[in-house]
Amino acid sequence: MQTTRKSPKKIAHIGIAVRNLEDTLPFYTEQLGLELEGVEEVESEQVKVAFLKIGETKIELLEPLSEASAIHKYLEKNGEGIHHIALEVDDIEARLKHLKENGVRLINEEPKIGAANAKIAFLHPKSSYGVLYELCQYEGSEA
Ligand code: CO
Repeated sequence: MQTTRKSPKKIAHIGIAVRNLEDTLPFYTEQLGLELEGVEEVESEQVKVAFLKIGETKIELLEPLSEASAIHKYLEKNGEGIHHIALEVDDIEARLKHLKENGVRLINEEPKIGAANAKIAFLHPKSSYGVLYELCQYEGSEA
């Protein structure tokens, strides 16, 4: 198995599934004191997301917009809680190719456009020992 020695840049965010953003946000802003960066609807994923800044990283709260959303299915099965960890990279296509060649199952073999116009792709948790990882690459961060 080939190895990738280059580390991802950082944890871009931790994704948390919630039933209702409006109900959830005051806990994060008023109780934990985190700063809300913005709320955005991502049509392709059928989710509404809120980003809260915490140091070098973020917390991403995800509320499903419809029953077609993967977050809806997740909530039905598991309830609210930690959904995924996103790793920021600067070579998403090359990494996906590399992972695929090494037999790592991917949910997205090609990157798609997620929140903040980032290129994103999810690895299959069956291949990553139970953790759903998202790779994301922000514009202007080409390898
Ligand atoms: Co995410």
